[in-house]
Amino acid sequence: MSNVFVSKHPLVQHKLTALRDVNTAHRDFRSLVRELAMLLTYESTLDLQLEEKQVSTPMGIAHGKKSREIGLIPILRAGLGMTDGVMALLPSVQVWHIGLYRDEKTLQPVEYYNKLPNDPTVQVCIVLDPMLATGGSAVATITILKRWGVERIKFMGLIAAPEGIDRLTTVHPDVDIHIGAIDSHLNEIGFIVPGLGDAGDRMFGT
Ligand code: PRP
Repeated sequence: MSNVFVSKHPLVQHKLTALRDVNTAHRDFRSLVRELAMLLTYESTLDLQLEEKQVSTPMGIAHGKKSREIGLIPILRAGLGMTDGVMALLPSVQVWHIGLYRDEKTLQPVEYYNKLPNDPTVQVCIVLDPMLATGGSAVATITILKRWGVERIKFMGLIAAPEGIDRLTTVHPDVDIHIGAIDSHLNEIGFIVPGLGDAGDRMFGT
């Protein structure tokens, strides 16, 4: 699992614990998701590829760097909650939404929204979804992005089940996974244990 990065940052662990707490209110839940997304962005961009860039300072020329075009792909709905935190650190990203919901009986992802343009406009994509349960939603989204022609893809989430990690690394072994924690297992209805419940519902109060 050389491309699975589980955050060891003390702030991530502290905030994840608050996020899991059943007594955390919707407003605090949303703030924590945003803050966690920011912290994980810092960690997941450590190997970002850069291009040369020259700028004029008041004292002369500086030979610096700039990042390549990055795309964010929040998986609707719950991925939306992470977008703002990522954009606080990467304000120039392009954001492309993909809507999938998980059929409650089959646990298979069902696509309901996709507005990607015909040709890829970014070199690197970061897929956002707080929960990696069976991995079906992440695998389907990344398959869509590869068909679109994206060269490099990362997945960023807050909590994963071992089952989701196995599936994603098997189907898309080239995709780096950045995650806050890997939990114990999936229960019989496909929820991560101990997890945090339904991230979309807790985020949006539904
Ligand atoms: C949840 C979650 C992930 C997906 C994870 O979304 O936000 O998108 O399930 O499960 P998987 O790894 O087994 O595919 P859900 O389908 O509940 O939709 P929502 O985000 O609209 O609540």
